[in-house]
Amino acid sequence: MEQTREHWSGRLGFTLAAVGSAVGLGNMWRFSYMAAENGGAAFVMLYVVMTLLVGLPVMLAELTLGRGSGKSPIQALVHYGGNAWKPLGALFVMAGVVILAYYSVIAGWTVRYTVDAALTGFPTEAGDRFGAIASGIPALCWHLVFMAVTIVVVSGGIRAGIERAALILMPVLGFLVIALAIYAATLEGSGAGYAYYFQTDFAAIWQTDVLRDAAGQAFFSLSLGMGAILTYASYLDRNTDLPAESVTIAISDFGVAFLAGMVVFPLIFALGLQEDVGASTLGALFITLPKAFASMGPAGNWIGIAFFVALVVGGLTSAISLLEVVVSSAIDATGTSRGKAAWICGGLIALLGVPSALSLDVLGLMDQIGGNLFLIFGGLLLSVFVGWVMPDAMDEASEGSRFGGLLFGWKTLLRFVVPVILAAVLWFSLLDTAEMVQGLIAG
Ligand code: TRP
Repeated sequence: MEQTREHWSGRLGFTLAAVGSAVGLGNMWRFSYMAAENGGAAFVMLYVVMTLLVGLPVMLAELTLGRGSGKSPIQALVHYGGNAWKPLGALFVMAGVVILAYYSVIAGWTVRYTVDAALTGFPTEAGDRFGAIASGIPALCWHLVFMAVTIVVVSGGIRAGIERAALILMPVLGFLVIALAIYAATLEGSGAGYAYYFQTDFAAIWQTDVLRDAAGQAFFSLSLGMGAILTYASYLDRNTDLPAESVTIAISDFGVAFLAGMVVFPLIFALGLQEDVGASTLGALFITLPKAFASMGPAGNWIGIAFFVALVVGGLTSAISLLEVVVSSAIDATGTSRGKAAWICGGLIALLGVPSALSLDVLGLMDQIGGNLFLIFGGLLLSVFVGWVMPDAMDEASEGSRFGGLLFGWKTLLRFVVPVILAAVLWFSLLDTAEMVQGLIAG
């Protein structure tokens, strides 16, 4: 069975697919508005610290578990820890199901925006338009279309499906984001946007909710805490340099997030739309930016289309990785064919997304539960598992690596530092979720 497991065709294929998983809607809308809401540069600094201190160690832990076992999450945990760890693996798969269910709804919006822009341009009354598009039957239809495309790619398998999609799509995304950032810099008045982006409210560093948001964002953006990177790593050859890969993925992910901010804020400020931002949490991307594009004339239409195509591409390569976790687990558990597993799992996830497509409140709650709770909890257990339970973690992580000698600190971080930070974050996040649920029930 292990011998016949499909492998990436080479290093580039894996790297692009993993970067494709990491770079997605999380970088483009979540990062920008999180930074704007949480003290600007102070948040960005905390986010970088979280990425280095917590994200990178957990990333390497997932890579190590995945390549070492050559299995999907549930089996990988059982392989090293025995059956007692099955529930954690099941939690990973659940997280994938929950996150993809609403992620696909948001991605559906981005497809809809792209198609609309190509057909009729961007509307000036973007707020109303967003309201009309975000929930209801149209949102549902685009969600289903997006899921179908995701399923088709995943059913193609590692090389013919996932790797090929990443090889084509990731360069497009990189090009678009860089071109857009350069364009934004040429706009008159963009300086105020940079100033806003890089404002530094250092007091924010000491606020627990900023800390929580920074950690949550690092996890979500790096695709950590639910075995997505683990699953991709299970298709790796033994000679891959895992520590080097983890750094490449993290740097690319940060790079795109950072550049996305360099597009969003200059555009908004150059067009005098700053009042709009912060009025709605999703606002910057789906309401304010389309307004900016609408008021830029014909050029704005093209720029806007380029921006939304980048979003669609980022969303798709991320959704693929989420579905792959579920599908590879189903294949490993039941032995069914990939195509069948992809359509059945994907179909069920599409169904689970229906409530999110019909209500923004439900979508927000699912983001909170899936994005913050599941991932942080998953990351906590992962660090404990690889730090304390997995017998040969150090050897496995350093095999094929030029940096094996540097890994001493890694295990220490996984054992003592990461679990403490994540337990604290989880606590704050639980309090918030309880509040949200109460709010939903009361209102
Ligand atoms: N990282 C992706 C983004 O930023 C989303 C994503 C894909 C994800 N796979 C994941 C998040 C696994 C958590 C876990 O949009």
